Amino acid sequence: MATGTDAGLLESPKPQSVYKHAILEQYIIQYATMTASKLTPKRCVLFDGFAGRGRFDTGEAGSAEHMMVAAQKRKGSTQIDLLLVEQAHKDYEILDKVADEYRSRGIRIDSHHDDCKNRLDEMLQLAKQASLFVFLDPCGAVLPMDSIRDVLAKRGTWPRTEVLLNFNAGLIRRAGGQFKKGQLDLGGVAQADRVCGGEWWRDVAIRAHEDSGGQNWESAAEAVAHEYARRLTAATPYGSVVAPVRRQVHQQPIYYLILLTSQPHGFWVFGVSAAKAREKWIDFLGPDPDERESMLWDTVADQLERERACAIQHITNNLRTLTADGKPKKAVDNVHAIFGALYGEARETAFTAALRELVKSGELEYVTKGSKPRDFVFRRVS
Ligand SMILES: C[S@@+](CC[C@H](N)C(=O)[O-])C[C@H]1O[C@@H](n2cnc3c(N)ncnc32)[C@H](O)[C@@H]1O
Repeated sequence: MATGTDAGLLESPKPQSVYKHAILEQYIIQYATMTASKLTPKRCVLFDGFAGRGRFDTGEAGSAEHMMVAAQKRKGSTQIDLLLVEQAHKDYEILDKVADEYRSRGIRIDSHHDDCKNRLDEMLQLAKQASLFVFLDPCGAVLPMDSIRDVLAKRGTWPRTEVLLNFNAGLIRRAGGQFKKGQLDLGGVAQADRVCGGEWWRDVAIRAHEDSGGQNWESAAEAVAHEYARRLTAATPYGSVVAPVRRQVHQQPIYYLILLTSQPHGFWVFGVSAAKAREKWIDFLGPDPDERESMLWDTVADQLERERACAIQHITNNLRTLTADGKPKKAVDNVHAIFGALYGEARETAFTAALRELVKSGELEYVTKGSKPRDFVFRRVS
């Protein structure tokens, strides 16, 4: 049985799982298809190192089944092979039964009742000449930093590799509080040292906590998550996205999903996948109770429509700034300049709507219009 903040997480979907699974649902299939497209054979390996049961007791897909569904959907064009690891025996038995269903439909799924860290070599072996997606979603401590860095170093950038990991914000908040009070024997500080591969996080957490007026540890957890991602990717061709995952809109993040990618396409597709996932999560939560009190409208659709209008305005301003130098700009190479603070929140359609209006009004023009919005090249009309 899972404990702490993860109690019951494997039984029925909780808001934080809805967001995570919606990202996986959106993103994995696109990642696998795109990254395998130039390989012979077209093949991608998906690794779920802390797989859980694969499917909730209520029948909804967990992370592993989302991977299985992606493999089945693309079976005709891309070979997607899965490697799943789960340490808890009962959870593994359920996982393996779900896997059997998809094996019988011709999907290759290797599964192990084991500790994730024992299967990294096998993962690298299986993914030779294939692209690789590594999902690390533990309840507590993720793998040591060195073993993740080692995977990036051994894989290089071709065939493509990405890592999506769950970084526990609650652990950093708890450990930060314990460290400040000198409670080094309570376990939190030692666990955070292990996860972060050293003591560096202590200074980062204390500084952020004090800078925020010493009121809470939210900014500390955020600062540590960003520094963790920076250290994981330092001196590698990889960059990172740090996405907070909350139980409710106004609550502190439970964890951060951290994506490591070496490709602009990774940043673009992940951002728009996260935006769709966020809408699914908001829909799951229902209308924002704070907004409902002051608004005439109280449906989720109204909330999302207001957000969309703000996003179009925000992106319009960003596009004006981006194109001010008159040079052609390709969307995918300018993902942060385009989405800015709304990266991971604004939909791709907010970008296309903003661009369309700027072109219609004669401010911008298309240089080339690719088949996907991320391939659009545009510039300021001189
Ligand atoms: C948060 S749950 C996974 C949920 C799943 N990824 C999903 O989204 O549906 C974490 C799982 O990791 C398992 N676990 C914990 N430590 C592990 C380890 N060292 N190796 C493999 N699995 C482990 C736990 O038993 C638990 O089932």
